[in-house]
Amino acid sequence: SLDDQAVSTGSLPDEERVQHLLDTAHGRYRGLDEGVVADYIPELGIADPGLFGLAVAGVGGRVFVAGDSSHEISIQSISKAFVFALVCDAIGHDEVWRTVGVNNTGLPFNSVMALELNGGSPMNPMVNAGALATTALAPGATSAAKWKFVHDGLSRFAGRVLELDIAVYESEAANNQRNQAIARLLQSYGRMAFDPLQTTDVYTKQCSLLVSTRDLAVMAATLADGGVNPVTGERVVSAATSRDTLAVMATTGLYEMSGDWLYEIGMPGKSGVSGGIITVSPGKGGMATFSPRLDPAGNSVRGQSATRYLSRALGLNLF
Ligand code: DON
Repeated sequence: SLDDQAVSTGSLPDEERVQHLLDTAHGRYRGLDEGVVADYIPELGIADPGLFGLAVAGVGGRVFVAGDSSHEISIQSISKAFVFALVCDAIGHDEVWRTVGVNNTGLPFNSVMALELNGGSPMNPMVNAGALATTALAPGATSAAKWKFVHDGLSRFAGRVLELDIAVYESEAANNQRNQAIARLLQSYGRMAFDPLQTTDVYTKQCSLLVSTRDLAVMAATLADGGVNPVTGERVVSAATSRDTLAVMATTGLYEMSGDWLYEIGMPGKSGVSGGIITVSPGKGGMATFSPRLDPAGNSVRGQSATRYLSRALGLNLF
């Protein structure tokens, strides 16, 4: 039963067991039909709500999949964790701490009020305000240079060159006045390191990069592996940066629901509004789930259930 927590060891269970548990989780939660597909970005609203993919990538480089694990989705907010890692690696632990912050807002991911309540501090890199402030800090003097930094870095996390979903990008770009307003408000507080509208455009592009559930598991496993992609063997960020990123994911990766997540799953995670969720088991591997129906906080319903099941069955809870 769900209450049976496997004993946590220093590694993932053997390969047959991991595959068996992924298949079991897929069968167990595929019928869960609660939640709604996000449509505030119109192009996301056309997603097939029946899609459901699962993947686990071990730090040894083995990848296990179930369901629609090769279906590609725009990465959305999951990009925030990896862009934070890249920027933290480039400008340093203290600088991102000072300028972006690492505390939960207790408010939804696109809250404007959170900025007003906190004297203009973006609070953390996982909500839209902090993600915009982080993207503005990406190395490069121009929007094109910042985009190249972000695109190259996210591709190294995945181990392949990621492509842009042009339809999703154009759909969000035509409807992201709220993010533009957040970027402007940050600027008014002296908290925007680059042009607010150009930053919003780079951020919108980073959210529109296409990834499969399998890619997401490999990206998560790179953080589990101290910053080395376990499939390509390439170091993407330092071990210290991986630790910093996991700390921020633990406190804020699921927004105002991050406490519930840690209580239930016991690992750092990050969700996105296209239905993906990544979870990182330091030293063991990365897990990814994808299914488009979301709860009111914007987190995949099937993904949360499957992750909770797998966290327990695989013995991954850190605590
Ligand atoms: O900025 C936005 O609203 C989207 N590009 C990303 C939001 C998101 O994924 C929130 N996640 N649950």
